[in-house]
Amino acid sequence: MLLRHFFLFTSRSAALRRWMERWPAALRLTSRFVAGARPEDALSVTRQLNLSGISTTLDYLGESVTNLDEAAAARDVYLRLLDCIHAQSLQANVSLKLTQFGIDISEAACRENVAAVARKACELHNFVHVDMESSDYTDRTLALVSDLHEHFPSIGAVVQSYLYRSERDLEELIRRKIRVRLVKGAYDEPPSVAFPKKREVDANFDKLARMLLQAGNDPALATHDEKLLRAAIKFAAAHGIPKDSYEIQMLYGIRRDLQSRYVAAGHRVRVYVPFGDAWYPYLMRRLAERPANVWFVASNLLRK
Ligand code: FDA
Repeated sequence: MLLRHFFLFTSRSAALRRWMERWPAALRLTSRFVAGARPEDALSVTRQLNLSGISTTLDYLGESVTNLDEAAAARDVYLRLLDCIHAQSLQANVSLKLTQFGIDISEAACRENVAAVARKACELHNFVHVDMESSDYTDRTLALVSDLHEHFPSIGAVVQSYLYRSERDLEELIRRKIRVRLVKGAYDEPPSVAFPKKREVDANFDKLARMLLQAGNDPALATHDEKLLRAAIKFAAAHGIPKDSYEIQMLYGIRRDLQSRYVAAGHRVRVYVPFGDAWYPYLMRRLAERPANVWFVASNLLRK
């Protein structure tokens, strides 16, 4: 628990981030969890995963931009990505963060940036998932997604099972037929807003997963927790919910054995594939989830 807080604390350090992201050995450090620096790297990983029956959602790494030019540049990367996915007939969609699209600078500009991506996703019959960040952003993120969903149904939201509020949020998203990705939650939240105990977070995931399976619109269960996935699949089978009416999602580089196993068992599996130079906060969150990952990262560095 202490290590989790330590990594989440360091994930917010701007100075450390600047230093680490400029480090020449960075690519070796991150290769287990990040597809590469360029969009082509993520597209190439997608091509390989598609061959083994796995689709992807592509995330251009970057959060907390400091000016609207950076936000517009991120939007343009996503627009080009959607074109490439379409042109190359890949099984992939995209995931983005509102702090990368400028929400801290101008909510109106952020909305326009996300709308441009959602419009393009609709035109190309593709999809954009808006990731959920810390609880400071939950209200604004859900409001923006709900509003844009009225115009562009190809946009979805993420619900975090560690938040007390999530059951209520999920009921509303289900009512609006908005596609939801259910996750446990990756940020450092106080006990005033989030369940402090892992077993409470897990129990809430289980409960929300059942709600989604029964009433959600093409939901995604995003976890590497075998026990929770097993319970959800058992629940779906017992209620006659077909395997193709929901997705199992996992992160690039994590539990690849499980990803293949679910594909072999006839499930729809999608892998979240991050790419880009701004990898530091993403990597720190992965270390926080599993401090043993430090050894993966260290062995990548030592590898010749
Ligand atoms: P848990 O942490 O309990 O881990 C269960 C098991 O999975 C572990 O025992 C281990 O075997 C394996 N595992 C988990 N994390 C690992 C890691 N980093 N390295 C190696 N093994 C690991 N969060 C968020 O707040 N907003 C978001 O938008 C998203 N989006 C998102 C998309 C997708 C597709 C996924 C899979 C996850 C997210 N997350 C997220 C992250 C999520 O909130 C959560 O932090 C991670 O999925 C880790 O939690 P698990 O559900 O895997 O369970």
